[in-house]
Amino acid sequence: MASKRIAPSVLAADFANLQRDVEMINKSEADWFHIDIMDGVFVPNISFGMPVLRDIVKHATKTIDVHLMIVDPDRYIKTFADLGSNILTVHYEACTHLHRTLQAIKAEGMKAGVAINPHTNVSLLEDVINDIDLVCIMSVNPGFGGQSFIENTYEKVKQLRKIIVKNNASTLIEIDGGVTNKNAKQLIDAGADVLVAGSFVFKSTDPNQTIKELKEIINT
Ligand code: DX5
Ligand code: ZN
Repeated sequence: MASKRIAPSVLAADFANLQRDVEMINKSEADWFHIDIMDGVFVPNISFGMPVLRDIVKHATKTIDVHLMIVDPDRYIKTFADLGSNILTVHYEACTHLHRTLQAIKAEGMKAGVAINPHTNVSLLEDVINDIDLVCIMSVNPGFGGQSFIENTYEKVKQLRKIIVKNNASTLIEIDGGVTNKNAKQLIDAGADVLVAGSFVFKSTDPNQTIKELKEIINT
């Protein structure tokens, strides 16, 4: 079994010291950079856009995992590929033709991810599971960092893992929102592969050490 991954969410970084925080992630045991792009329409918040991502990519030395919380994401697939995104995740709820969107992401050389809101049942992904490189199960309502974890997530992870096994797919399961050292192990045991952690990492006194602790918890 491949080792389980931690993806710190840059949304919780100090934007006035962004290079410092990017370098911290580079040097830490973290696996990916999780980048939250919000448009103020799909979610009731605006985060940051292309110029900020460009500067993050300049310094980042690890996989760039972009989570688009925007309507009609097809408009920006090429833009995010050109910016250096390695994984591009769109929301199920924002895509009328999800299968087409997934093919378009892959045609640009990126891994294709699908995020689902807390109310969206994992079974809706079964018909395209072999086309999805990563499913991001939202364990909070998207739009803000620092919210509390929705307990029903464990059940969703178990159901999705069954669908992946049944279809012989290699899809990774990512969990996004409210991840801490209290739920990390249980999420991995339920079948998760990647845990996004924003506030828990960046609001801690020693983010580098917090990442190390999370990695230990999920890989033992
Ligand atoms: C929420 C974002 C998350 C967020 C997670 O809409 O998708 O990636 O940054 O932050 P925490 O870990 O603080 O819940
Ligand atoms: Zn996210």
